[in-house]
Amino acid sequence: MDKKNNNVIILGVESSCDDTSAAIIKDGYLLSNVISSQAVHSAYGGVVPELASRAHQQNIIPTIDQAIKRAGINKSDISAIAYTRGPGLMGSLLVGTSFAKGFALALDIPMVEVNHLQGHVLAHFIKEEGVEPHIPEFPFLCLLVSGGNSQIVLVNSPFDMKIIGQTIDDAAGEAFDKCAKVIGGPYPGGPYVDKLAKEGNDKVFNFAKPHIPGYDYSFSGLKTSFLYLVRDYLKEDPGFIEKNRADLCASFQRAVIETLMEKLKHAVRDLKINRVAVAGGVSANSGLRNAYQEYASRYGWDIYLPKFSYTTDNAAMIATAGMFKYMNGEFDSMDSAPYSRVSDGI
Ligand code: KG4
Repeated sequence: MDKKNNNVIILGVESSCDDTSAAIIKDGYLLSNVISSQAVHSAYGGVVPELASRAHQQNIIPTIDQAIKRAGINKSDISAIAYTRGPGLMGSLLVGTSFAKGFALALDIPMVEVNHLQGHVLAHFIKEEGVEPHIPEFPFLCLLVSGGNSQIVLVNSPFDMKIIGQTIDDAAGEAFDKCAKVIGGPYPGGPYVDKLAKEGNDKVFNFAKPHIPGYDYSFSGLKTSFLYLVRDYLKEDPGFIEKNRADLCASFQRAVIETLMEKLKHAVRDLKINRVAVAGGVSANSGLRNAYQEYASRYGWDIYLPKFSYTTDNAAMIATAGMFKYMNGEFDSMDSAPYSRVSDGI
């Protein structure tokens, strides 16, 4: 059997933060995508790296086993293993990297390393049997917004991505998480703020907006502005949060979305590329999705919104990114080590 062109089966493994995930794709089509989330962090209001690595160590084998079983294949059918090499939490990445090496050695198959951020962008190329694909043509722009990143990426090909703007401090997801924390909400805070924002008036409160040159973002000022506003009102009325929770969320969410969309609009105009995607955990936000729809009808954008299950960390996107590399003959070596940050490019 010629595994290179036919019956290419890729096992994808994701372990960069607090989700252990495994997926199988066959000839480009997704057969399974299993995600084991780690509830342990919610008690701490954020991801505890040490606990995350331990949980990955416990979850990785059962998660991969489930993915293989649900796909209805055998281990021996797998052509290559694609894994997240970085960026992310070092201890978490080490679990996935070590697993990938052991698996590749045991089955005598190649290993493909995937950049987690490229994985998020390439989530738009996940194909499912019976689902009409809506895949962007190259080049396109992708707003990548997660708990650790806020970037505008120019995507020229699966292998050529350029960050043209990024946050100079906090990520949009971090801002959502902080907002929820200030008003006593859970971690992660994004879904909580999103839900409450639907019931609130987004014009009640105004927050300081950053003035950053180019396509870069900043969210730390907005976070502080929110914190100070709540603190000042609480001095006058201890029941302030309780009475204004939904309006606070709606107003804060509007500020984040306006900031994100304004820069994106400039990038689209300047680069004359009207294919615009969104990716990462924050792309699940309903207000941001509505804003995309509005911009699409107002400015003629061709928009690409990922399925909800592919917005947060998942291995389907890692397997998909890995498939592109596999087909291009880009394999990884046994001495490769994970990296926690990317300083340049994506
Ligand atoms: O991509 P992701 O799962 O993890 C990485 O950071 O890589 O993103 C997680 C982030 C968290 O900050 C979470 O609060 C945010 O995505 N998030 C949301 C929503 N769902 C998740 N933010 C706003 N609205 C949402 N519906």
